[in-house]
Amino acid sequence: MRTKVAVIGSGPSGLLLGQLLADAGIDNVILDRTSRAHILGRVRAGVLEEGTVGLMDRAGVGARMHAEGLPHDGFSLAFDGRDHRIDLFGLTGGKRVMVYGQTELTRDLIERRERDGTPTVYEAANVTPHAFDGSSPHVTYEKDGAAHRIDCDFIAGCDGFHGASRKAVPNAAIRRFEKVYPFGWLGILADVPPVSHELVYANHPRGFALCSMRSETRSRYYVQCALDETIEAWSDDRFWDEIRRRLPAHHAEAMVTGPSFEKSIAPLRSFVAEPMRFGRLFLVGDAAHIVPPTGAKGLNLAASDVHYLFEGLLEHYQDRSNGGIDAYSARALARVWKAVRFSWWMTTMLHRFPDTGDFDQKIQEAELDYLTHSRAAETALAENYVGLPY
Ligand code: APR
Ligand code: PHB
Repeated sequence: MRTKVAVIGSGPSGLLLGQLLADAGIDNVILDRTSRAHILGRVRAGVLEEGTVGLMDRAGVGARMHAEGLPHDGFSLAFDGRDHRIDLFGLTGGKRVMVYGQTELTRDLIERRERDGTPTVYEAANVTPHAFDGSSPHVTYEKDGAAHRIDCDFIAGCDGFHGASRKAVPNAAIRRFEKVYPFGWLGILADVPPVSHELVYANHPRGFALCSMRSETRSRYYVQCALDETIEAWSDDRFWDEIRRRLPAHHAEAMVTGPSFEKSIAPLRSFVAEPMRFGRLFLVGDAAHIVPPTGAKGLNLAASDVHYLFEGLLEHYQDRSNGGIDAYSARALARVWKAVRFSWWMTTMLHRFPDTGDFDQKIQEAELDYLTHSRAAETALAENYVGLPY
């Protein structure tokens, strides 16, 4: 089989890139090692920057997002028993974010692809990129016991942190930067109305907590937990007690509780692989970088990578110029590192680190105090949260 762009991975990166390419008449095939049901069952974050919303619109899949997504003009930082609202809209000259679950975004893209009949191969085993250093790259995989080969012009490695694309690059050609945080997030989904119509990020002596949502009737809540915690040790009652203890009294009292239908623990990590291009192989999204969820940047960085790569591929096919492709890695990384910095900063400001001494604790308190008394500091937070320009 032959295609122009072989896309490895059917997460948000691969699906968004595949749709933009298909709409531009650039044929592509997506290969994923898991099933459609597995992909649609994954629960991830859900705060979209305007750039991400714009890309969904450009890919022709914005209708349900605009109908069901919740535009947010601000969020709250809770500490010391009180709330401090960050007025995203006012501080950024009219920008906002959209709360819309990644699961829904993925569904919209998969359904559009199916309607158009653009090919996706699910449950493709041993997907391997080859010969991307030369001019005839190809991807091999196995499906139902048979070996397959796709010849292509380019390979887009959209296969997440544990994917095959980054692993196919020789070790010496890649530089890795990594920071692992000494805690995780325990998250639940429950069909109860959110405690507040805006997100609440709480810093508390017992640890960080986050009140988020998926809709006006579905809440997504998190508490910071130790890395060796297991979900079996967290009954719903224990979770509700813990999150209420970490919130200011008015939120704790207003919180509606109920049975959770999803509960999971995620570790927190910052990771960047440089560069993001190796000949005719491009790394996109989580395949190239991971951020802790505190700034809600993971999905949005995947979207900005897709933007830069799509523009580069468009230039290649429409204008016969490789300028955009050649600039892809540097352009994407410049934005990635700023989001890595922001996510690290939000994480550091809001969590309790197990080995924090008195000095670090005082610095954290000073940071929060400064933020709540300086419009300049608030503006810096707001412009990063709504997303830096592409
Ligand atoms: N072969 C084929 N497919 C693979 C392989 C492989 N070896 N390894 C992983 N995949 C698939 C996974 O099954 C998954 O569907 O690649 C896809 C990667 O999707 P994501 O992990 O969602 O990564 P990405 O599309 O870059 O999206 C980034 O998702 O992980 C979150 O927080 C992150 O929101 C961000 C966004
Ligand atoms: C979520 O809704 O899952 C969510 C929201 C904001 C974050 C992280 C996760 O910063």
